[in-house]
Amino acid sequence: MPAGARHSHRILIADDEEGVRAALTEMLKAEGFACTTVAEGREALRSLRTGRYDVVLADVRLPDMSGLDLLTLIREKYPFLPVIVITGFASIESTIGALRRGAVDYLPKPFSRDAVIAAVQQALAAGTARGAGGGGTPEIIYRSVGMAAVVDLVRRVSRTDSTVLVTGESGTGKELVARAIHRMSRRAGQPFVSVNSGALPEGLLESELFGHVRGAFTGAVSTSLGRFRVADGGSLFLDEVGNMSPAMQVKLLRVLQEQEFSPVGTSESIKVDVRLIAATNSNLEAAVKAGGFREDLFYRMNVIEISIPPLRERKDDIILLAEHFLSALAGKRHMEKWVLQPDAQAALMAYAWPGNVRELENAMERATVLCEGSSIDASALPGRVTGAGERPTLPDGTIGGAFDLPVLMDEIEKFYILIALRKTAGNRSAAAEFLGMKRTTLLARMQSLGLGREKPR
Ligand SMILES: Nc1ncnc2c1ncn2[C@@H]1O[C@H](COP(=O)(O)OP(=O)(O)OP(=O)(O)O)[C@@H](O)[C@H]1O
Ligand SMILES: [Mg+2]
Repeated sequence: MPAGARHSHRILIADDEEGVRAALTEMLKAEGFACTTVAEGREALRSLRTGRYDVVLADVRLPDMSGLDLLTLIREKYPFLPVIVITGFASIESTIGALRRGAVDYLPKPFSRDAVIAAVQQALAAGTARGAGGGGTPEIIYRSVGMAAVVDLVRRVSRTDSTVLVTGESGTGKELVARAIHRMSRRAGQPFVSVNSGALPEGLLESELFGHVRGAFTGAVSTSLGRFRVADGGSLFLDEVGNMSPAMQVKLLRVLQEQEFSPVGTSESIKVDVRLIAATNSNLEAAVKAGGFREDLFYRMNVIEISIPPLRERKDDIILLAEHFLSALAGKRHMEKWVLQPDAQAALMAYAWPGNVRELENAMERATVLCEGSSIDASALPGRVTGAGERPTLPDGTIGGAFDLPVLMDEIEKFYILIALRKTAGNRSAAAEFLGMKRTTLLARMQSLGLGREKPR
């Protein structure tokens, strides 16, 4: 399995051009994704009714309906499912239309492998975040004084056009805050465009941001608008700015100082009205001192800093968030609510949460799969949360002590076998097929993992 593979993730591709379907399938399969392709909108809806998908890639122009209408239908029926829209040559109207209707991203044709993989991985990472709630922006849930101060600042900066730098450890909610600023601002009806500066190679990042003209470099077979132009009138979310190269830092500084830039391959200056929201989980001030980040750019970006405290410093939020994720999951699966037992609550409160809110969200999803009935006790929580795994978390967020790989592998295997059994209503032959193993192998594995008598629900 290639690096970064997530073979449990399924992608639905809707495009009427066979060549595009084949190219996308090949790129995504090489990364371990499972792909299903359809040529029409109605076919796409049929596939969504019968199968489970994690991301949809849909062309803006389909033979039987426009991709924008398909997008609207998907957003209504499957609000959690991220949709990436494939757009034609520099078609600004359809791109903006798609972002307004809740597409998580767009992919201009022709696309590179890197751009496709980055877009899909981003969509997966932010799947629930972007999908929940009206207009694709979920609520910020909090009770702590620390987050109350953050939300107060969000409210105040959303009334301005100032550049904002959102800082915080991984998984603290930086993107959520950026989206909230946009949603509350006068730009709410305009696009919120997101770019991950860390996910793209330098050359590609420049043309992603500023666009390029046809022939600007090998492979630039058509003009590309760039995300700054697509975000015109709206907000641009520049994630992981700490990873930007010195050359890109200079170019970004120019945009911030003069509100203008030049697409790759031209000297033409383009003016845009874009509100920049940058985010980083590294210490930019330290990077400035060490010479890795331009001081002038830092001050331009850091007009207002919103610093999100790590979850362990706002323990008041832990149970509230846990219950919020449980009720969101219940809604998603049309179930009654799950109840957190006192021992589980105590474990959640005692843990240091190096992965912050995202880690808590994942732990809750896992618990709903592993628990008995609707009651979640400490045994349904990951070993590192309850301390059972003897893998203490160090203050820097890394995991100390030795890893017991065989134990971890068993834990993972058990987790997926239980998912398969639940999906197939306990039918072991179907579960074996789902897991890609023989029925006899599955039974043997269940026996040795102590799942022999497990009554799957
Ligand atoms: N206060 C909150 N209320 C509700 N959900 C939250 C809150 N904070 C974070 N989340 C959820 O936690 C997940 C992680 O949040 P987000 O992606 O915004 O974090 P991040 O800081 O951008 O992470 P990273 O540094 O890894 O990019 C998302 O699903 C988000 O919706
Ligand atoms: Mg983020």
